[in-house]
Amino acid sequence: MTKVDGLSISIKNKKGTWSLVRDVSFSLERGRTLAIVGESGSGKSLITSAILGMLNHLEGLEGSVEVCGRDVLKASSRELRTLRRNLIGYIPQNPRESLTPTLKVGSQLVEVIAAKTDRKGRECRLVAESLLSSLGFSGPERILSMYPHQLSGGMCQRVAIAMAVVSRPALVVADEPTSSLDPLTKHKIMEVIKGIQAEQGFGLILVTHDLDLAFSSSDQVAVVYGGRLVETGAAEELLLRPGHPYTSDLVRCFTRSGAEKGGSYYIPGEPLSIYTSFPGCRYFNRCRQRLEICETKEPACVRRDRGRVACWLY
Ligand SMILES: Nc1ncnc2c1ncn2[C@@H]1O[C@H](COP(=O)(O)OP(=O)(O)OP(=O)(O)O)[C@@H](O)[C@H]1O
Ligand code: SF4
Ligand SMILES: [Mg+2]
Repeated sequence: MTKVDGLSISIKNKKGTWSLVRDVSFSLERGRTLAIVGESGSGKSLITSAILGMLNHLEGLEGSVEVCGRDVLKASSRELRTLRRNLIGYIPQNPRESLTPTLKVGSQLVEVIAAKTDRKGRECRLVAESLLSSLGFSGPERILSMYPHQLSGGMCQRVAIAMAVVSRPALVVADEPTSSLDPLTKHKIMEVIKGIQAEQGFGLILVTHDLDLAFSSSDQVAVVYGGRLVETGAAEELLLRPGHPYTSDLVRCFTRSGAEKGGSYYIPGEPLSIYTSFPGCRYFNRCRQRLEICETKEPACVRRDRGRVACWLY
């Protein structure tokens, strides 16, 4: 079980303290998938970086992140290495950049297997071959003898997935794992991730701009706006009956049911800059359903169906 409770991230500069992420809470059971969606700059990567323990050095980090009962935010560097070795896997956005260009894929994968498991030498090579087979490579030995530049983006991503899941982690965090891939490869990679999840049973946090991917591949969706989870709920419920006006607008963009012009819809206006203090709801300037109170007071997060929503309409 992964439990994020009251996660807040702020930074200080000469002009003051700025809140980047505020009071993010959710839980995720093993075998389940939570998609985190939201516009660019909304705080998705900050949330996942905190979950991976990459922001533990920040003064303005509050709340708790528990993975299988271990508190990631309080972990020392040594404990973090153990957590990443055993419990938490990470699938990057651009796998080619995370592989060393001058080393063959085999030696890189074998090194990760040796570091993350108790296996040694030839055994690591056999694990690498079997893992690559289970991730859909028909000739794993050939792939292991290649350099990253000889692989396509989708192949590199499958190697990165192998590195993330080799220790059978409890949680895998994938930050935009398909955004650098073409649509066909994107679906294949998602199938590969879901296939290995079904076999190993890890919880998956999937960060994506792609609503199609979010709604089709996840059980729960968390919608982030201005550093806050403005709505969370079961994927099918949010798609059919979005509660928060921002979720409705996103779904409208996705389904094109707005169809004002040429079948497309976009959300007018821009999100407030993180360096703009605003006492009310940060969606106020773009919201079609805003009320008077929305300008002066931020709404609390309340229950709605099986999910939660932060909006004065509830
Ligand atoms: N170390 C930092 N110092 C100052 N501001 C930061 C820092 N890291 C992120 N930010 C700011 O915090 C906000 C959220 O960033 P984040 O990278 O989490 O967004 P995102 O939702 O992942 O966006 P994208 O979809 O483009 O990846 C952005 O406005 C970003 O500029
Ligand atoms: S709180 Fe008000 S401004 Fe914010 S989304 Fe809800 S209705 Fe719109
Ligand atoms: Mg990001």
